Amino acid sequence: MGIHGKSIRSFPDIHDGAVEDSQCLSCHDPAANPDIAPVSPHPKFTECLKCHNDEF
Ligand code: HEC
Ligand code: HEC
Repeated sequence: MGIHGKSIRSFPDIHDGAVEDSQCLSCHDPAANPDIAPVSPHPKFTECLKCHNDEF
Protein backbone atom coordinates (compact mmCIF):
# COMPACT_ATOMS: atom_id res chain seq x y z
CA MET A 1 0.00 0.00 0.00
CA GLY A 2 2.98 2.34 0.42
CA ILE A 3 2.08 5.86 1.39
CA HIS A 4 -1.33 5.45 -0.07
CA GLY A 5 -4.44 5.54 2.04
CA LYS A 6 -7.66 3.71 1.51
CA SER A 7 -9.28 4.23 -1.85
CA ILE A 8 -12.49 6.15 -2.36
CA ARG A 9 -13.36 3.35 -4.79
CA SER A 10 -14.37 1.33 -1.76
CA PHE A 11 -17.51 3.49 -1.68
CA PRO A 12 -18.25 4.55 -5.26
CA ASP A 13 -21.80 5.68 -4.54
CA ILE A 14 -20.77 8.12 -1.85
CA HIS A 15 -17.82 9.40 -3.83
CA ASP A 16 -19.44 9.63 -7.24
CA GLY A 17 -18.48 12.99 -8.72
CA ALA A 18 -16.01 13.96 -5.99
CA VAL A 19 -12.78 15.18 -7.55
CA GLU A 20 -11.78 18.44 -5.87
CA ASP A 21 -10.03 18.67 -2.52
CA SER A 22 -12.69 21.13 -1.42
CA GLN A 23 -15.36 18.52 -2.03
CA CYS A 24 -13.47 15.91 -0.05
CA LEU A 25 -13.02 18.29 2.82
CA SER A 26 -16.67 19.28 2.88
CA CYS A 27 -17.23 15.80 4.31
CA HIS A 28 -13.85 14.79 5.73
CA ASP A 29 -12.46 17.92 7.38
CA PRO A 30 -12.71 17.43 11.15
CA ALA A 31 -13.72 21.09 11.39
CA ALA A 32 -16.61 20.60 8.98
CA ASN A 33 -18.78 17.99 10.59
CA PRO A 34 -17.26 14.91 12.19
CA ASP A 35 -20.61 13.14 12.08
CA ILE A 36 -20.77 12.98 8.27
CA ALA A 37 -17.76 10.82 7.53
CA PRO A 38 -14.52 9.47 8.98
CA VAL A 39 -12.36 12.56 9.57
CA SER A 40 -9.14 13.05 7.70
CA PRO A 41 -6.03 12.88 9.88
CA HIS A 42 -4.42 15.41 7.52
CA PRO A 43 -6.93 18.02 6.32
CA LYS A 44 -4.09 20.32 5.21
CA PHE A 45 -2.89 17.90 2.55
CA THR A 46 -3.61 18.68 -1.08
CA GLU A 47 -4.47 16.52 -4.06
CA CYS A 48 -6.31 13.94 -2.02
CA LEU A 49 -6.87 11.71 -5.02
CA LYS A 50 -3.17 11.11 -5.53
CA CYS A 51 -3.31 8.89 -2.49
CA HIS A 52 -6.97 7.88 -2.23
CA ASN A 53 -7.93 6.77 -5.70
CA ASP A 54 -6.12 3.47 -6.12
CA GLU A 55 -7.61 0.75 -8.22
CA PHE A 56 -8.13 -2.55 -6.54
C1 HEC B 1 -20.75 13.56 0.47
C2 HEC B 1 -19.70 13.40 1.50
C3 HEC B 1 -18.34 12.86 1.03
C4 HEC B 1 -17.50 13.41 0.08
C5 HEC B 1 -17.74 14.63 -0.82
C6 HEC B 1 -16.31 12.60 0.08
N1 HEC B 1 -16.44 11.58 1.00
FE1 HEC B 1 -15.03 10.18 1.48
N2 HEC B 1 -16.38 9.19 2.67
C7 HEC B 1 -17.64 9.65 2.99
C8 HEC B 1 -18.27 8.71 3.88
C9 HEC B 1 -19.68 8.84 4.48
C10 HEC B 1 -17.34 7.66 4.10
C11 HEC B 1 -17.51 6.42 4.98
C12 HEC B 1 -18.15 5.29 4.21
C13 HEC B 1 -18.42 4.13 5.13
O1 HEC B 1 -17.57 3.84 5.99
O2 HEC B 1 -19.47 3.50 4.96
C14 HEC B 1 -16.14 7.99 3.33
C15 HEC B 1 -14.98 7.23 3.29
C16 HEC B 1 -13.77 7.70 2.81
C17 HEC B 1 -12.48 7.10 3.02
C18 HEC B 1 -12.21 5.86 3.83
C19 HEC B 1 -12.43 4.65 2.97
C20 HEC B 1 -12.31 3.39 3.78
O3 HEC B 1 -12.04 2.35 3.17
O4 HEC B 1 -12.47 3.42 5.02
C21 HEC B 1 -11.55 7.86 2.38
C22 HEC B 1 -10.04 7.66 2.34
C23 HEC B 1 -12.26 8.95 1.74
N3 HEC B 1 -13.60 8.84 2.02
C24 HEC B 1 -11.65 9.94 0.99
C25 HEC B 1 -12.34 10.91 0.25
C26 HEC B 1 -11.72 11.78 -0.74
C27 HEC B 1 -10.24 11.79 -1.10
C28 HEC B 1 -12.72 12.58 -1.24
C29 HEC B 1 -12.62 13.62 -2.37
C30 HEC B 1 -12.25 13.08 -3.71
C31 HEC B 1 -13.95 12.22 -0.54
N4 HEC B 1 -13.68 11.20 0.33
C32 HEC B 1 -15.19 12.84 -0.72
C33 HEC B 1 -18.21 10.84 2.54
C34 HEC B 1 -17.68 11.69 1.58
C1 HEC C 1 0.45 11.75 0.54
C2 HEC C 1 -0.70 10.85 0.47
C3 HEC C 1 -2.04 11.36 1.01
C4 HEC C 1 -2.71 12.52 0.65
C5 HEC C 1 -2.28 13.62 -0.33
C6 HEC C 1 -3.96 12.49 1.37
N1 HEC C 1 -4.02 11.36 2.15
FE1 HEC C 1 -5.57 10.79 3.36
N2 HEC C 1 -4.48 9.21 4.09
C7 HEC C 1 -3.24 8.81 3.60
C8 HEC C 1 -2.80 7.65 4.36
C9 HEC C 1 -1.48 6.91 4.14
C10 HEC C 1 -3.81 7.38 5.31
C11 HEC C 1 -3.84 6.26 6.33
C12 HEC C 1 -2.85 6.56 7.44
C13 HEC C 1 -3.52 7.08 8.65
O1 HEC C 1 -4.56 6.56 9.06
O2 HEC C 1 -2.98 8.06 9.23
C14 HEC C 1 -4.87 8.35 5.10
C15 HEC C 1 -6.06 8.41 5.82
C16 HEC C 1 -7.15 9.21 5.48
C17 HEC C 1 -8.47 9.13 6.04
C18 HEC C 1 -8.90 8.15 7.12
C19 HEC C 1 -9.38 6.87 6.46
C20 HEC C 1 -9.80 5.88 7.51
O3 HEC C 1 -9.09 4.90 7.68
O4 HEC C 1 -10.86 6.07 8.15
C21 HEC C 1 -9.26 10.06 5.44
C22 HEC C 1 -10.74 10.33 5.69
C23 HEC C 1 -8.41 10.77 4.50
N3 HEC C 1 -7.15 10.24 4.54
C24 HEC C 1 -8.83 11.82 3.71
C25 HEC C 1 -8.01 12.62 2.92
C26 HEC C 1 -8.41 13.87 2.30
C27 HEC C 1 -9.80 14.47 2.37
C28 HEC C 1 -7.30 14.35 1.64
C29 HEC C 1 -7.15 15.68 0.87
C30 HEC C 1 -7.45 16.88 1.67
C31 HEC C 1 -6.23 13.39 1.84
N4 HEC C 1 -6.68 12.37 2.64
C32 HEC C 1 -4.94 13.49 1.29
C33 HEC C 1 -2.54 9.43 2.58
C34 HEC C 1 -2.87 10.64 1.97
